[in-house]
Amino acid sequence: MNLLVTGGAGFIGANFVHQAVAEHSVTVLDALTYAGSRESLAPVEDDIRLVQGDVTDADLVTKLVAEADAVVHFAAETHVDNALADPEPFLRSNVIGTFTILEAVRRHGVRLHHVSTDEVYGDLELDSPQRFTESTPYNPSSPYSSTKAAADMLVRAWVRSYGVRATISNCSNNYGPYQHVEKFIPRQITNILTGRRPKLYGSGANVRDWIHVEDHNGAVWRILADGQLGRTYLIGAAGERDNLSVMRTILVLMGRDPDDFDHVVDRAGHDLRYAIDPSPLCAELGWAPKHTDFEAGLHDTIDWYRDNQSWWGPLKDAVEAVYQERGQ
Ligand code: NAD
Ligand code: TYD
Repeated sequence: MNLLVTGGAGFIGANFVHQAVAEHSVTVLDALTYAGSRESLAPVEDDIRLVQGDVTDADLVTKLVAEADAVVHFAAETHVDNALADPEPFLRSNVIGTFTILEAVRRHGVRLHHVSTDEVYGDLELDSPQRFTESTPYNPSSPYSSTKAAADMLVRAWVRSYGVRATISNCSNNYGPYQHVEKFIPRQITNILTGRRPKLYGSGANVRDWIHVEDHNGAVWRILADGQLGRTYLIGAAGERDNLSVMRTILVLMGRDPDDFDHVVDRAGHDLRYAIDPSPLCAELGWAPKHTDFEAGLHDTIDWYRDNQSWWGPLKDAVEAVYQERGQ
C-alpha cells in the first residue's frame, strides 16, 4: 500500500512508521512542530518520503491524498497543559486539520483511519467499576479533548453524509520510546536523569489506563486491515494505575527513594480517571496487547531514555522552563 501518515514525526506516528516501512511505501506529512522531530524518523529515513507541511494546507493535503491508498491520521496538538495555556493551535490543527483530511479523502475516495483519544469521553469516578465503551456519550473536559471530540464528530458525519470510508480509534494513555519530555512518564524519567526532582500534580490520585505504544499501533493495523467502515474501536490494555503509583514505580526502577518527588499545583479541570473496555476490538479483530507487564515496559522505556539523551536532551531545559513558569 501507499500509506500517507500524518503526524508521523511525533511519538505514536514515528513508532507506527518504523513498523510500516517493512511492508508499505510510506509518505509522512508532518509540520515538524515543537512535538515533531526528524530524528524520530532517522532509523527509517532512507525508506520514507518526509513532507514537511501542515494538515490544514488543503492543496498539499489533496495532492498527497490523491497519491495514497490509505491515510492514517495522527497529526494533532496533543498536550492538555499546552491547550489550557493556548487553545488556538488545537482548534486549527485538530479540527480544521481533520476537516481538511476529510475533504481530500472524500474527493479521492481514499480509505482513512482517524486516530483519537479516550479523553473525548470525559472522566470516570475513581471508585466506580465503569469503563468507557463505544456507546459512552462524548463529554470532553479540556480544550484538547474537546477539539479531538469535534474531529471525531466530523469523521462520523463525513461517513454518514458522504460515504467516506473511515474508521476511528479512541485509545488510552500511551508510553514508550520517542514520547516528548513534556508528557508525564518521560518528564519524570528525564527529570531524574538530569538531577531534577519529579513533579506530581495534586495528590496523584488521578488514574490513567496505560498502554505501550506498540500495542496501540498493533491495534491500528488490525483496524486498518479488517475494521468495519464507519466503526469506532476503543483501544486499551487493562493498564489502570494512579499517577502516584506510576511515579513511585519510576523512582524505584531508577534506584531512588519512592517519595523523592515534589507535589506541584494541580492541572485545571484535571480528569479523574480513564478506563477502556476494549472487548469488541479483541473479539471482532482478534487483537490482544503484547506488553502486558507494565513494570517491564516502564523498565525498557527508562532504558531507552537513558540511552537516547541526544534525542531528548536538547528539548529538556525549555520544557522545564515553561513548567516552572506555570508552577508545575
Ligand atoms: P505528538 O504530539 O507526539 O505528535 C504529534 C505530531 O503531529 C507531531 O509530529 C507534530 O509535528 C504533528 N503536527 C501537529 N500539528 C500538525 C499540523 N497542523 N500539521 C501537520 N503535522 C502536525 O502526539 P502523539 O502522542 O504521537 O499523538 C498522536 C495522535 O494520537 C494524536 O492524534 C493524539 O490525539 C492521539 N492519541 C495520543 C495518545 C497518547 O497517549 N499520546 C493517546 C490516544 C490518542
Ligand atoms: P499527560 O502525560 O499529560 O497525559 P494526559 O493528561 O493526556 O492523560 O499526564 C498524565 C497524567 O499525569 C495526568 O493525570 C497529569 C499527570 N501529570 C503529573 O502528575 N505530572 C506531570 O509532570 C505531568 C506532565 C502530568
